[in-house]
Amino acid sequence: MRFSIATAAVLLSGLTSVFAETFTVAVGKDGSLLYEPPSVTAKAGDVIQFQFMSKNHTITQSTFDKPCEAKADGVNSGFQFIPTETTVFPQWSITITNDTAPLWFYCAQGPHCQRGMVFAINPSAEKTFEKFKETALASPAPAAGGAAPAGGAPASSSAAAPGAEGTPAANAAGTAANSEGGAPVDSGAMSKAAAAWPVLLGSVIMGALVL
Ligand SMILES: *[C@@H]1O[C@H](CO)[C@@H](O)[C@H](O)[C@H]1NC(C)=O
Ligand SMILES: *[C@@H]1O[C@H](CO)[C@@H](O)[C@H](O)[C@H]1NC(C)=O
Repeated sequence: MRFSIATAAVLLSGLTSVFAETFTVAVGKDGSLLYEPPSVTAKAGDVIQFQFMSKNHTITQSTFDKPCEAKADGVNSGFQFIPTETTVFPQWSITITNDTAPLWFYCAQGPHCQRGMVFAINPSAEKTFEKFKETALASPAPAAGGAAPAGGAPASSSAAAPGAEGTPAANAAGTAANSEGGAPVDSGAMSKAAAAWPVLLGSVIMGALVL
């Protein structure tokens, strides 16, 4: 008996899901204005899981050319406020559906994007993370006088936010077209109880200024 192409395809797709990976990205670890790591290379089926660890950040989809502006139909975690005593951090995830299209993200809080708080999935040889970050650093500061009590308003309104800002519980899953190819990414549900981090880490971020 010979393997047909169809059989091989079924086997391959099975293997793909077996080997799907989850990447964990820390958001604002130790009070920083950073995603760590700042960029990942992922394949279709992989999950990028963001853990919000301090302050009041977002992970908001943008485009390569306008790093600090929300993409019209992009995905958005909404603002996640983390009190200083937090030890179990809210999570929000994205499942990759098309790994040939780069995806670009930033924090929509005040001037965080202009300070370099940006993130990329599958940057390419021409569209590199470094160029994306350079464009972010050179972007105009967000207009003052918005809803934010301190530090200015977010650069763009989060029209695509799946849940209420600052509410870690139960953001509905959503889909969004990506910037280059129109293929969707699925944004996952926020789960506050998903990972228990050491109490030690909680005490390290105590005293970090909350924006
Ligand atoms: C988080 O930041 C947003 C935007 O600046 C603000 O509207 C919201 O009130 C903040 N949340 C908390 C709990 O401070
Ligand atoms: C995936 O993205 C690439 C690059 O943007 C695009 O050319 C291709 O059509 C997309 N594939 C699917 C299945 O949407």
